[in-house]
Amino acid sequence: MTAPQWARAHTNIALIKYWGKKDAQLMLPANDSLSLTLADFYTDTLVRFTDSIATDQFALDQQPITGQPLAKVTRVLDQVRQLAGITAPAVVTSRNHVPTAAGLASSASGMAALAAAAAQAAGLTLDHPALSRLARLGSGSATRSIDGGFVRWFAGHNDATSYAAPVPAAPPLLADIRVVAVVFSDQPKAIGSTAGMARTAATSSYFPAWTQRAAADLHRLLPALNAGDFVQVGQIAEGNALAMHAATWAADPPFTYFLPATLALVQGIQVWRQSQGVPVYATVDAGPNVKLLTRAPHVAAVQRWLAAHFPTAQVVVTQAGPGISYYPAGK
Ligand code: PMV
Repeated sequence: MTAPQWARAHTNIALIKYWGKKDAQLMLPANDSLSLTLADFYTDTLVRFTDSIATDQFALDQQPITGQPLAKVTRVLDQVRQLAGITAPAVVTSRNHVPTAAGLASSASGMAALAAAAAQAAGLTLDHPALSRLARLGSGSATRSIDGGFVRWFAGHNDATSYAAPVPAAPPLLADIRVVAVVFSDQPKAIGSTAGMARTAATSSYFPAWTQRAAADLHRLLPALNAGDFVQVGQIAEGNALAMHAATWAADPPFTYFLPATLALVQGIQVWRQSQGVPVYATVDAGPNVKLLTRAPHVAAVQRWLAAHFPTAQVVVTQAGPGISYYPAGK
């Protein structure tokens, strides 16, 4: 074991969504997904292995965490202990810098930071694909938070082949893509992503169509990123998100994460884009909030439009962020 360091991982927003598992035990997704790591939202985590306690302890923003979230942490720690040949329980300390006002799940940054911090504290030297496999055991979207920029998660067919890696993008696109998070509700959702995915995969008549669609969208997105074609990127991302949500409507029983405001914003953006030619596209995760994709020169216009049409929504703007980093404990 080595002197523990803090690990920092940033959260991400999927342009091609992960929705559905083909193996819940191994956390293998039904489809490849692709995301953008975000600059302003991250989690810092420190892990200390110690025989002075009986079981793993986890505190998030100084609150002790138990139950299912602790079980996910222990799942990642167990894998680290097995790889390192150690048995000691761990004290896990996390600080979230993901404002609830951003409406972004912190599980991606949280589990990625945990994987990196635990591996480091156990003295393991793991490369990024190996760290992303470790993070995957905690939360699927965390697989994509080890690297910065645009990141693809290869679904794979077993633990060794299901990991994420950065994908090339034109530098000007990476530099000026912006994500405008629009928050209508910061309440926990009624159907979590695990349950929502399971119901969709098991019962939705659109699920096979969704996985085919995701593969086709990814196939078109990769060259669009390479070419720096923002309009193509936005169109593909918006269509992919709406296709994912269509699959939830076709589940049994049917469900949706949309609130009326979610639909009003997605439709409003489409009308505004078509009438004014502003390059702005919407994506929606497993909740009612909307993330708008645009480019830096259009952020002010998007903010003005939001203030005029959705004056009560909270709005947070961010950009592409980096992969994991470490810094010494004590800071
Ligand atoms: O891994 P989870 O449980 O955070 O699920 C993520 C699901 C979506 O956010 C809707 C899509 C995605 O790819 O991040």
